Amino acid sequence: MGYHIHPDIAARLLPNARTADIGTGTGRNSSNLEIFFLDARQPIIPELEGTYDLVHVRLLAMGLLQSDWRPVVSNLTCLLKPGRALQWEECNFLTATHQGTNPATTFEAVRTIENLLLDAFSKHFVWAGVLF
Ligand SMILES: C[S@@+](CC[C@H](N)C(=O)[O-])C[C@H]1O[C@@H](n2cnc3c(N)ncnc32)[C@H](O)[C@@H]1O
Repeated sequence: MGYHIHPDIAARLLPNARTADIGTGTGRNSSNLEIFFLDARQPIIPELEGTYDLVHVRLLAMGLLQSDWRPVVSNLTCLLKPGRALQWEECNFLTATHQGTNPATTFEAVRTIENLLLDAFSKHFVWAGVLF
């Protein structure tokens, strides 16, 4: 994408801005970090409500059902201070293609993996056509 935080959002963030990275993984490369265990499908704990300048989400969609989207967006926006931003990035797995990296990989092997992924994701991403 060419950026981590969208330039329009970054321009409005103060130096002491608080960011909530949802589904952050291990967070092992982060400093100045507080970790909370939460399920984004469940209501946010009251002490975190309205306390963040940016809520960031990346690659969460695979763990969500279509019926989860509305509560998840609602729950995550509860984390924000008024007027602040939610940035969410996903990959369109349904149209992802192999660009070629390691010359030792065969096209057939990559195609097989691609088809397995496509098959699995098509069933899971019944909502994807709405987004992409
Ligand atoms: C594909 S990983 C992405 C990790 C990281 N965001 C990144 O982009 O590298 C998906 C992450 O979402 C978390 N996750 C899945 N379902 C979740 C949920 N309902 N609430 C919060 N986190 C969830 C998983 O534990 C995992 O850390």
